Amino acid sequence: MNQDERKQAAADYALRFIQSGMILGLGSGSTAERLLHAIAAATAAGQLHGIIGVPTSERTAHVATSLGIALATPDAQPAVDLAIDGADEIDPDLNLIKGLGGALLREKIVAGSAAQFMVIGDESKLVAQLGERSPVPVEVSAFGVAPTARQLVALGGEPLLRRTADGAALMTDEGHMILDTRFGPIADVRALAARLAALPGVMAHGIFAGMVSRVVVAGSAGVRVLERP
Ligand code: A5P
Repeated sequence: MNQDERKQAAADYALRFIQSGMILGLGSGSTAERLLHAIAAATAAGQLHGIIGVPTSERTAHVATSLGIALATPDAQPAVDLAIDGADEIDPDLNLIKGLGGALLREKIVAGSAAQFMVIGDESKLVAQLGERSPVPVEVSAFGVAPTARQLVALGGEPLLRRTADGAALMTDEGHMILDTRFGPIADVRALAARLAALPGVMAHGIFAGMVSRVVVAGSAGVRVLERP
């Protein structure tokens, strides 16, 4: 299986955890999008009904709507049964780095409102230590980006403003900017998460610690399910 096929396999496998009538948190990114298609196909085949999705980005809302998936806002459905999303890095304790797709604040709000949070991905996302490959995306207030960047440097990070292809600062769905902040391998994930959350200009950071209950990961040996210890 190539990487695309692995993403598809993880998304297809995730269907077995979805029951009719569930309020589902719908993640963002290429793997989560594959799940939208799988949900739509299962619904068309009569295997699922009554699903209501709470999307984590405008892009996901658009794709889900085009596939006929009913949607609600977090304010209309504040208690999600199961949120399913992709991830950029997954460590052995199932802590995550997320947000390379730029939807981290909404993703964290929806995952945080869910009774269960499940991640789907291909095995390239598994790492020994968070930060060994990926920067930590930090969604920041557009007011005062420079002082927030200085504070990230003081925490040992190397922040880089995320830009669009035409060079403009990328704006999130919430109207914030993103500082992709490289820390290298992170020794104490929870300590760094707490320091990032305490910065006044930080709207959300991409460390999702202790939130995941299950990871469905597809690799060379097929699909595995990892449960949080
Ligand atoms: C979106 O903001 C991200 O958190 C994505 O979930 C993450 O980047 C994984 O994306 P892919 O499934 O496209 O690898």
